[in-house]
Amino acid sequence: MNKIEAQKRIQKLRSEIARLRDAYHTKDIGTDEIYDSLTKELKKLLEQYPEFNDLNAGENRVAGRPLEKFEKVKHKNRMLSLNDVFSEEELYDWEKRVKKLLSSNTKIEYFCEVKFDGLAVSLIYEKGKFVRGATRGDGFIGEDITQNLKTIKSIPLELGHRMSTWTSDVQVPDYIEVRGEALMAKKTLISLNKQNESEEKQLFANTRNAAAGSLRQLDPKLSAERKLFFSPYDIAEIKYNNLAVKPPLGGFTAKSRSDLKTHSEKHRLLEKLGFQVDKNDAICKNMEEVIIFIKKFEKIRPDFPYGTDGVVISIDDLKTQEILGVVGKAPRYMAAFKYPAEKATTVVKDIKINVGRTGVLTPLAIFEPTTVAGSTVSKATLHNMDQIERLDLRIGDTVVIEKAGDVIPKVVEVLTRMRTGKEKKFKMVSECPVCGGDVEKKESGGKKPGFKNSKKPGFEEPEKLSVAFYCINPKCPAKNERSLVHFVSAFEIYELGPKILRRFKDEGLITDAADIFTLQKEDIAPLERFGEKSAENIIKEINLKKKIPFSKFLFALGILHVGEETARDLATNFGTLEKLSKAQLEEINEIENIGPAVSESVYKYFRDKSNLSFIEKLLKNGVIIEKAEKKQKGKLSGLNFVLTGTLPTISRALAKEKIISLGGKVSGSVSKNTSYVVAGEEAGSKLTNAQKLGVKIINEKEFLDMLK
Ligand code: IVH
Repeated sequence: MNKIEAQKRIQKLRSEIARLRDAYHTKDIGTDEIYDSLTKELKKLLEQYPEFNDLNAGENRVAGRPLEKFEKVKHKNRMLSLNDVFSEEELYDWEKRVKKLLSSNTKIEYFCEVKFDGLAVSLIYEKGKFVRGATRGDGFIGEDITQNLKTIKSIPLELGHRMSTWTSDVQVPDYIEVRGEALMAKKTLISLNKQNESEEKQLFANTRNAAAGSLRQLDPKLSAERKLFFSPYDIAEIKYNNLAVKPPLGGFTAKSRSDLKTHSEKHRLLEKLGFQVDKNDAICKNMEEVIIFIKKFEKIRPDFPYGTDGVVISIDDLKTQEILGVVGKAPRYMAAFKYPAEKATTVVKDIKINVGRTGVLTPLAIFEPTTVAGSTVSKATLHNMDQIERLDLRIGDTVVIEKAGDVIPKVVEVLTRMRTGKEKKFKMVSECPVCGGDVEKKESGGKKPGFKNSKKPGFEEPEKLSVAFYCINPKCPAKNERSLVHFVSAFEIYELGPKILRRFKDEGLITDAADIFTLQKEDIAPLERFGEKSAENIIKEINLKKKIPFSKFLFALGILHVGEETARDLATNFGTLEKLSKAQLEEINEIENIGPAVSESVYKYFRDKSNLSFIEKLLKNGVIIEKAEKKQKGKLSGLNFVLTGTLPTISRALAKEKIISLGGKVSGSVSKNTSYVVAGEEAGSKLTNAQKLGVKIINEKEFLDMLK
């Protein structure tokens, strides 16, 4: 075989191997042997003719071994976020703010590009070779997902090589950090979900979750099957001959360095380096042109192959960008225009009440699950009674819901024409649904009725007040965040930290600890900073911890004075929740190590209606309490002894030890609860007390007989 023949053979081998790999991943065809043998031949040929080696070719994208876990990586350059704008007006406001900070003769040009809805990643290339790829993480520290990113064909493994031809007009930098978005095509998601459905696996709610979930697979093979795409949008750092080229870039004119002056030039450079830069971009001379771009893309958007949620607008000039700088975690020189939320219709099945941390009662619409803005939703906050009245919302109504980005959806309209007459009006509860406590109506905002409007003399129209309902029980479990945190830690639900609990509470997903056990993956996955995987982990963990030993359950309830040890004592003495909850004060008090304050608190806890209904709710929601091994009842259990005087043969300490070891109790003073007074010589006032109260008095011999 001569060199030309070898080159042709290499090309053929490459395309056949690629076809087989594709068939293998997408159609589950067992092509392993043929694939392996062709790959072997290709490798051999490439060893003979190393000049045909191509880092970007398919054989270099083969997924490696699964990882144990992702390593953390510190970003050299912080990964920022963007400030959102939702209207033309807000865009002009942004422009005004920017212009104020610049000198009046600064010429501003904008660069518009698509805002992709995927997962932000950072790619590092050294001497033209892809060396590391990471997720955004918290902006400072991300996760090393290099192996998974290597399987994405649109990520060049070597720069300057495009479509099988070397681009001659680009000098490859020594070091470059490229930022962009890893995406899953809408079509790919549909087929992935079809497959998941047939395999009875969970479905992904949207392309972003699917892309993120795919890149978080520890096994790069699984990640490879998902066929992701990478769209670059920025260069965070670039160095030629180890000299940094970063804004201000104007000073660098040497031919060997890229002369990057604008954001748009960054895009063009990325293209030359071999990235597939999205073509929907434009330099706009003013805000009017920006708005035209936004409107134009809005029309393309529904048929765009990837999920998008807006347009990113940058001040094109890099020097101006540097002057404007970064505030907080977002640059001042960029803005993300977000398209209006998507809408969908559904039927309201119920209106429930969420009790917030402050005790505020917020109505929540529960509806038939529906897909909006790419994710499945089944509830929406109704904010307050005013809102329900304004919308004239009734249970059973068909409504329009709207979802903007990652926030919880809103009910925006009632389709009254869809009414059948069976819809029911909603009435605010008069008792707190969590604790049964009293509910009070409070007015806030606006001015008090009767307030004289100074602008309109003599005009006494009361301004609209917003009315809210509150649970006024200070002990309402819904209010007590600390008890929620204690509860999950006693249940050892490690996935639910205080921040997550607070978030769930604020989003209306949970009101009290019992609600945790009704959470569904679909409730959590659409929330920002969560996703399919983390939602799945949380639900898994909750389900795993539903079964709990009785002592831990007691501890979790957060009963006053009941710590871990006391909970154990109570559990081993009573065995079951039923027995403990019905126990009389004396019975609890009799338990070893349990004093009067504890027994009173426990006794009272189980006499409180709201506590009982909370426990009932926990059980209804699937909590299973494991029975405690009951303490072996000793001979003397249930008996109370008082020791007095000098006993002839054994010390008082020994007598006490014997009583306790056989389950009895020893007290220091005589009461009507005393079973026996063991009296020795020179017994004093205890003896006379016992005689007065009619308590049985025994001597040492009788006592020792009882122990036999
Ligand atoms: S520029 C300063 N351009 O949007 C951050 N971001 O909301 C640089 N995104 O974390 C971002 N498409 O993941 C930029 N064309 C685009 C983008 C884009 C999507 C994402 C990016 C960022 C998030 C901020």
